[in-house]
Amino acid sequence: MAVETIKWINNAARIIDQTKLPNKFEYIYCRDVKTMWHAIKRLSVRGAPAIGVAAAFGVLLGIQSFKGKNKAAFLKFFQKTCDYLASSRPTAVNLFNALHVMRLVIADNPDEDVDTLKKLLLKRAMELFHEDKKTCRKMGEHGAGLIKNGMQCLTVCNAGALATVDFGTALGVFYSAKKMGKKFKVYSCETRPLLQGSRLTCWELLRQKIDTTLICDNMAASLMSRAKVDIVFAGADRIASNGDTANKIGTYMLAVLAKHHGIPFYIVAPRSTFDFNIKTGKQIPIEERDSDEVKCFAGISTAPKGIKVYNPAFDVTPASLITGIVTECGIIRPPYVKSISALKLYA
Ligand code: MRU
Repeated sequence: MAVETIKWINNAARIIDQTKLPNKFEYIYCRDVKTMWHAIKRLSVRGAPAIGVAAAFGVLLGIQSFKGKNKAAFLKFFQKTCDYLASSRPTAVNLFNALHVMRLVIADNPDEDVDTLKKLLLKRAMELFHEDKKTCRKMGEHGAGLIKNGMQCLTVCNAGALATVDFGTALGVFYSAKKMGKKFKVYSCETRPLLQGSRLTCWELLRQKIDTTLICDNMAASLMSRAKVDIVFAGADRIASNGDTANKIGTYMLAVLAKHHGIPFYIVAPRSTFDFNIKTGKQIPIEERDSDEVKCFAGISTAPKGIKVYNPAFDVTPASLITGIVTECGIIRPPYVKSISALKLYA
């Protein structure tokens, strides 16, 4: 059965509550922008492409509550709604790119009235939703060519159907390879502290009957040293113009290990995850999350009270460690400054 991470139904955004997986499969119906903001913040909906669509749907939820025909008041309300959604999480650029796309609808239609603008915004948000489905399948096809029979693949966090509308980026590569009849196995890093790897990736891959083995994050070096990893696929939250890539904390560590062991390391991400406005990964804002995520496990304290905690949700993998980036336009390779500037022009 397909995973429908996010869907617009009867003027509400229906999302799978990913904080409950794998133990419970529950939907949340977001009927106002505040509910969506909190769902993004606490990771009920997460993963860069899914956050982008969630933000676009969040705009729809916000403007739904605007009553009346006063255009100046509507525009002010619209901008406030976008700014509010932009404050939910800082790293995944898909969120900001989606809000930018929604803002362009307003900028490109200066003569339209409030009702028409509402309709145009709905249309654009639905386009983003459908584009994600298509884009992920294209990335899957391009990336699947990298998987040879018998390969052992490693992934981190969840860059799957749950991180997009319904298919995935890094995991989409596995789904496409499986469809092509390839035989391979996947190791999933559990991904401390919130366990997106064990809770979400393992759940997804098992549903798709992909041979999957869970490891703790600190087992990756041992696994690689025993020649049990042939290739690494990870997603991305923001890619700078030089190829530096922010993804879930621990990704950089895997890239360093992969380099040491001579293992190819691929990022799988759509154009909407590129930040063409920044030159390097140093400019990527890294979210720091609540210390309880590290100090507690399932509500039980695992560290002494008063301990200081460092809890960045993402790290930046330097472009020099990345073998290639699988996009919907094909696989781009170093030198990234050149290949990414060509990607920017790709329409
Ligand atoms: O904090 P999360 O769960 O939103 O982090 C998600 C990731 O880091 C994913 O790997 C990334 O968004 C790519 S998803 C296709």
